[in-house]
Amino acid sequence: MARKEIAIKEIQTIEKEETSRIPAKGKHHTHETAETMAARQRDISVSEFFAKNRHLLGFDNPRKSLLTAIKEAVDNSLDACEEAGILPEVLVEVEDLGRDRFLIIVQDNGPGIVKKQIPNIFGKLLYGSKFHRLKMSRGQQGIGISAAGMYGMLTTGKPVEITSRTHKTKPAHHFRLQIDTKKNKPEIISDRETEWDVEHGTQVAIELEGKHTHGKQSIDEYLRQTAIANPHVMIIYKEPGGETITYERTSHELPAHTQEIKPHPLGVELGVMQALLRDTRARNLAGFLQHEFSRVSQRVAEEICANAGLSPNALVSRVSHADIEKLLEGISKTKIMNPPTSCVAPIGEEQLIRGLQSVVPADFYASTTRPPAVYRGNPFIIEAAIAYGGSEQEGDAPARVLRMANRVPLLYQQGGCCAYQSVVQTNWRNYSLSQPRGSLPLGPLTIVVHMASVWVPFTSESKEAIASYPEIEEQIIKALQDCGRKLKIYLSHRRRETDEQRKHDYITTYIPHIGIGLRELLGFSEKEEQNVVQTLTGLLERHRE
Ligand SMILES: Nc1ncnc2c1ncn2[C@@H]1O[C@H](COP(=O)(O)OP(=O)(O)O)[C@@H](O)[C@H]1O
Ligand SMILES: [Mg+2]
Repeated sequence: MARKEIAIKEIQTIEKEETSRIPAKGKHHTHETAETMAARQRDISVSEFFAKNRHLLGFDNPRKSLLTAIKEAVDNSLDACEEAGILPEVLVEVEDLGRDRFLIIVQDNGPGIVKKQIPNIFGKLLYGSKFHRLKMSRGQQGIGISAAGMYGMLTTGKPVEITSRTHKTKPAHHFRLQIDTKKNKPEIISDRETEWDVEHGTQVAIELEGKHTHGKQSIDEYLRQTAIANPHVMIIYKEPGGETITYERTSHELPAHTQEIKPHPLGVELGVMQALLRDTRARNLAGFLQHEFSRVSQRVAEEICANAGLSPNALVSRVSHADIEKLLEGISKTKIMNPPTSCVAPIGEEQLIRGLQSVVPADFYASTTRPPAVYRGNPFIIEAAIAYGGSEQEGDAPARVLRMANRVPLLYQQGGCCAYQSVVQTNWRNYSLSQPRGSLPLGPLTIVVHMASVWVPFTSESKEAIASYPEIEEQIIKALQDCGRKLKIYLSHRRRETDEQRKHDYITTYIPHIGIGLRELLGFSEKEEQNVVQTLTGLLERHRE
């Protein structure tokens, strides 16, 4: 066969194979074509995505889901109250409806929500006031409360109920809402004005599938730790059994007001820089740098441009991809002041101890607030505290670690959290504690680690563990070492005291015998004997005082 003929034959067989892949009418087929696939390709709404992947948001099992839903509502209440300058008073109620169903109600005395916004806030994922700003808050992504409502709807079919009022002169509104997951849009079931004896605030009620437990990772534990990190908050918790637990506030001071900041140029990624350049209203490069970033003055802007080999007068609209690369390099070569820290507020050493005292009874407390630091351009502050001793803490068990981020307790994924890993990496043997290799220190000890930041780098959307950035780890370890040093001083002091007490007890036992001995040996009268005993006892007492 000639070569040409072979080639034609090959083409024919290929054509034959290809035509056999196109589904003929009425014929059974298993393969897809680009066209059949195209017919199915379409947008995925964010709510559809998270309805399928609800474990990413902390709704993976009934027990955790109940906690997550409450956490999202309480976090929102606290954020809203603080932003409005109101001392938070939060009511949490959990009612067991039987057959693994619960009704949760969370009510606050916050600023309320304007009527028009209620459907979007509770009936749409990725809608919120906090994502687009750099400021410390509990919520960030705008998927918290709407996801809780969506989980409730998926597991019980019941809508979310919201009551909110913004001022005593205005009516309260009551909504019943669902999420249309296909469109990620709210579906209003009912909407009416209502009588409410609350002047301003919000109440959210969600029916959901859950499981109620006590102990570790429970609602009790979350509220208890919330009280530690938020001594200014009052929480009233009505348990499923009908019992009411009140966490009184131990401080009447609101956390320091934080300010929104612009991003710091150091650590800004290329894509982010690109987006900022596209959206800016500045015309030239120097103006852009001054306007969009914190800590960039005219002088610093010019220095960055010089280090980047770009003109400060270059038009923003003409900046190319290669120029952005140069710009980032210019930034990394320029000495720029650390970002302002007015955007983060620590709990504070004194407040942290007060919070800890109210829920963990112990013999000794210590705390440390580190100076502000920066990771990837984001300012943050690390705090640590310890509570040692007391009859409620187990003497030879591993220490308990309480992790917090922006005043929110983190109860899951301990092992994967930078805070926990830093506790393990700290050498507690330096501070008179025993510590098996690669584990927690042993003893009657509770350790608190708090990270406050404009953006806490969580390892997942469910916000359970802090990612291990070296800058964060370093700060945590330094804070723990500081608490450790204070603990060591206390322990050695205590050891000296018990030593002295033992000697004192020993001598006290022998003083009467000395009296008797002297009477027999030197022929003392009973009076003289008593005198000697009294003098010696008095001497010992005076020395002790
Ligand atoms: N109890 C509340 N009081 C006032 N505003 C609230 C309350 N709950 C939620 N909001 C508003 O709804 C927004 C969306 O809440 P959420 O879905 O939890 O996202 P995030 O808290 O991450 O912003 C918040 O940013 C806030 O503006
Ligand atoms: Mg939230």
